[in-house]
Amino acid sequence: MASKLIAPSLLAADFANLQRDIEMVNQSEADWFHIDIMDGVFVPNISYGMPVLKAITKHTKKLVDVHLMIVDPDRYIKTFADLGSNILTVHYEACNHLHRTLQAIKAAGMKAGVALNPHTNVSLLEDTINDIDLVLIMSVNPGFGGQSFIENTYNKITQLRDLITRKGASTLIEIDGGVSTENAKQLAVAGADVLVAGSFVFKSAAPKETIKLLKTVANS
Ligand code: DX5
Ligand code: ZN
Repeated sequence: MASKLIAPSLLAADFANLQRDIEMVNQSEADWFHIDIMDGVFVPNISYGMPVLKAITKHTKKLVDVHLMIVDPDRYIKTFADLGSNILTVHYEACNHLHRTLQAIKAAGMKAGVALNPHTNVSLLEDTINDIDLVLIMSVNPGFGGQSFIENTYNKITQLRDLITRKGASTLIEIDGGVSTENAKQLAVAGADVLVAGSFVFKSAAPKETIKLLKTVANS
């Protein structure tokens, strides 16, 4: 089985020490760097935008995994490609023409991801799964770090894994929200490929070691 990947979420980092935290991730066993972009409309919070992303992509050695929590994401596909994003994930709930959006992300040279809110059923991806490189299952309601993990996520992973297998797709499954060493193993066993972790990593006493521990547990 392919090794499970860890993607620390910058949202929980210390923004006054951004370069230090980026260096910590660079030197860690993290696989991807998860970047949450919030517009205050799609979600009730505003995170950070293009200048911050530009500073991150300049310094990071990890794959840049951008999670857009914004309305009408098509407006910014080229911008995020130019800023150095490797994966661009849009929300299912924010796209009127999801298939077109996925094609545009790929045409801009990035991998295309689709995020599902906790209330959005996996079956809605039945007709697009073969066009999706990554499905991000929200395991909290999007907008904030540090929330409690929603247990129904395990059912959604099982349903999504079945859909991917049935359709012969090669889509990766990413889990975002409330991830820790408490649930990492069970998420991996259920079929998750990538685990995002914000607070659990950055609020810990030794973030680099926490990333290593999370990776060990997910792959145990
Ligand atoms: C929430 C974001 C997450 C967030 C996760 O809307 O999409 O990426 O940073 O934070 P934790 O790991 O603290 O739940
Ligand atoms: Zn996220």
